[in-house]
Amino acid sequence: MHAYYYDNVSADQRLPHDSGQPVELDYLRKLGLALTSVPLDTEGGWEPLVDKIANEHGWDNRDTMDVTKEGLGDQFEQMLDKFFAEHMHNDAEVRYILSGSGYWDIREYPTDLWIRIRVLPGDFIIIPAGIYHRFTLDELNQVKALRFTTGELQYSSTARGSETDASPFRYRYLDSVKEVPVGA
Ligand code: LAC
Ligand code: NI
Repeated sequence: MHAYYYDNVSADQRLPHDSGQPVELDYLRKLGLALTSVPLDTEGGWEPLVDKIANEHGWDNRDTMDVTKEGLGDQFEQMLDKFFAEHMHNDAEVRYILSGSGYWDIREYPTDLWIRIRVLPGDFIIIPAGIYHRFTLDELNQVKALRFTTGELQYSSTARGSETDASPFRYRYLDSVKEVPVGA
């Protein structure tokens, strides 16, 4: 997993869009993300380690997201558009990448710059509630990931906008990072 500022060049979202300006994962951790890796070829298997992380966080539900043309069929393009529209959630977004690869973009506040995070199989990513973000596949066009939640599996996201800006989940998030210097 690695991260960098997005170049904002208007071209296919699936391209790397690497501005050449790297971003430390530790900075993203200060912004409330949890980023780790449990290699798929871990001795004894990745499952026990992933189970342990899930138990520690109290995520008692999981399912597999199959973001591929085969998996989504007619919904494929529509789902991709939805993932790439800037949004936030009232709960953390928790994913463990099983195969394929892609990019999460998170919005830096208050600069409004995108920070792009490259994810590969074995990567474990937690995006906190209240942070604006989006997701895209890369040119290989496929990702399979485990999705974890606490309680019932249900997906809800809120598009960026003035109403969302005023949501308590957004305020709570901004409050949690108010001491973090921008870009460091
Ligand atoms: C999601 C990712 C795509 O909300 O941000 O599932
Ligand atoms: Ni999301």
